[in-house]
Amino acid sequence: MQASQHLDIVEQPLMVCKQARATMNQQRPCVLWLTGLSGAGKSSTADLVTAQLHAAGHRTYMLDGDNLRHGLNSDLGFDAKDRIENIRRVAEVSKLMVDAGLIVLVCLISPFRASREDARKLFDDGEFIEVFVDAPLLVAERRDPKGLYKKARQGKIPNFTGIDSPYEAPESPEIHIETSKLNVNASAAAMIEFLRSRKYISP
Ligand code: ADX
Repeated sequence: MQASQHLDIVEQPLMVCKQARATMNQQRPCVLWLTGLSGAGKSSTADLVTAQLHAAGHRTYMLDGDNLRHGLNSDLGFDAKDRIENIRRVAEVSKLMVDAGLIVLVCLISPFRASREDARKLFDDGEFIEVFVDAPLLVAERRDPKGLYKKARQGKIPNFTGIDSPYEAPESPEIHIETSKLNVNASAAAMIEFLRSRKYISP
């Protein structure tokens, strides 16, 4: 789409703002953007963090790549162009959810550094928290919870991240979790502690 097509669209001012919703929710809205290989532990960690935040009365939402690819992103595949579009859409949705006052947990392989940086640019300072869910390929492949690495090695899944499609690890993520050393409880605890210590949630 050409930028000029937006010229006739004027942003509608709204009476209820992000800050008002955040205050009502008693939390600092943000997105925890979990990136890492398939099988690194993104979804299980985010699921536990979401459950613990929810139990403590926080307003959350989890955007999981696999689930979104059954709906919003069902038209997208796994070549570079489609992954970039996948990440762009999820970033825009999570921006809306942060605007709605939520703590949003995104689980996407999101293999490209530039796409993650583009996502970060949509947010105000401190709102975008990059979480590197780090497991070496060997470990992720040994776990192979969905049997996808096996299929990829057999040539049945082209462009599989880590096999024949690249993964660019974050250089300075806000949170770095090595899931080959920490179990899911300890990983979740590290993320919750980050939110507490930076005052996204009250102690
Ligand atoms: S991303 O690269 O565009 O961010 P996303 O997180 O949405 O990927 O989807 C990854 C999930 O799709 C994986 O967890 C895996 O279950 C499944 N999948 C299917 N094909 C592929 C593939 N070629 N590469 C990586 N994951 C794949």
